[in-house]
Amino acid sequence: MSCYKITGGRPLSGSLAVHGAKNSVLPMLAACLLVPGQCVLRNVPDLSDVSATIDILRLLGCRVDREGDAVLVDASVLNRSDVPEHLMREMRSSVIFLGALLARLGVAELSYPGGCELGPRPIDLHLTALRTLGAVILEEQGVLCCQNGGLQGREICLSIPSVGATENAMLAACGCPGLTTIIGAAREPEIGDLQGFLRAMGAQVEGAGTSTVMIRGGVPLHPAEYQVMGDRIAAATYLCGCAAAAGEVELTGVSPNTLSAVLACLEEAGCTLHTWPDRMVLTCTAPLRGISPVRTAPYPGFPTDAQAVLMAALAGGEGATLFVENIFDSRYRHVDELRRMGADVQLAGRAAMVSGVGRLHGAAVRSTDLRGGAALVVAALGAEGTTQVSELRHIKRGYQALDRNLRALGADICETP
Ligand code: EPZ
Repeated sequence: MSCYKITGGRPLSGSLAVHGAKNSVLPMLAACLLVPGQCVLRNVPDLSDVSATIDILRLLGCRVDREGDAVLVDASVLNRSDVPEHLMREMRSSVIFLGALLARLGVAELSYPGGCELGPRPIDLHLTALRTLGAVILEEQGVLCCQNGGLQGREICLSIPSVGATENAMLAACGCPGLTTIIGAAREPEIGDLQGFLRAMGAQVEGAGTSTVMIRGGVPLHPAEYQVMGDRIAAATYLCGCAAAAGEVELTGVSPNTLSAVLACLEEAGCTLHTWPDRMVLTCTAPLRGISPVRTAPYPGFPTDAQAVLMAALAGGEGATLFVENIFDSRYRHVDELRRMGADVQLAGRAAMVSGVGRLHGAAVRSTDLRGGAALVVAALGAEGTTQVSELRHIKRGYQALDRNLRALGADICETP
């Protein structure tokens, strides 16, 4: 089982083009099912979650090809409407296929996506939204059987601004004649990216980025080409890596506006930031200071996906910072591993008090989940000595060539068998 071997203490410097957004491209790949014909998505990252989604598309009957950073999906012929358990287990967010299959075929069968490393991952909001649109959904022994019980545009109210439920409803609504209004929609930038792709297909969608998204469904759609936005969470990760190791790093291909809350925290911690519409430069020359409480929240609040990597950077700084994780029930599994590197983190329910210890030390640590694993890499970049990070499969779900990119920025990191 391979691991990253990282020797910390080397400042980072250089420029990095950040890869396409995982949380944008996954729903877009599902959206390709809406139209017979070939769609082309560009700036698609090489990630295991993307490969898992492509496996599902192929199983459903799509022809999928990769040409560099482009993925070509031809959904002209679909020969099944069910996603077997082994593929659902590989990636929880494949519940997004429900809406697309219902819109295209009027039927879908998925095994219930299990909980995952972040705690229970309910899908009640997804199911309520689709039932509101007229889907008949039966849950039998962990399998969801969905049928078109007369899909019709309606008003959907989400009690939580769920990213996935918003996306599922948008895709299903494309197949529902009439107007669908999603009230309480998630406002994440990835929702806007999905709207852009759907519009390129000819869909009548508006309001993404606000709490109310409207879709006029039942209009004929056509294949489209689309460029995926840059990954704001990967960008946050590299910035936190530079904050932990010190140095100066430029990131391109990501709009600073999509991670404003993270940038504000890094500036408060003592980093200097210069930003342009699609690039940013972070400079860090002194140990990070403690900052005001970091409370994760739906966009535009502080993103839960950046909580672990910011914690890792601050743990090796000076001063104390309170974190409150408000989105997921179990998103502190990286804390035990950071403690093995000398971090001082006190947990109490959703709260975590991080007291910077001046500098962490290397250790053998284990990735517990995607962002928790990335946090260990961030911590190792600033730590004294050598760290070995194992269970890399978690990290490779969401980061393309993390070791190669960090090496190009001057880090001493390599993957060893
Ligand atoms: C998306 O997950 C992202 N994944 C997550 O990124 C991200 O952390 C999350 O949104 C929040 O921003 C993808 O886009 C593939 P939610 P999603 O539905 O859609 C509760 C990463 O690291 N909820 O917005 O699953 C849920 O339990 C991943 O890249 C219900 O109660 O998240 C959570 O507490 C991790 N019922 C809250 O809502 C539901 O039916 C927000 O979840 C759905 C969600």
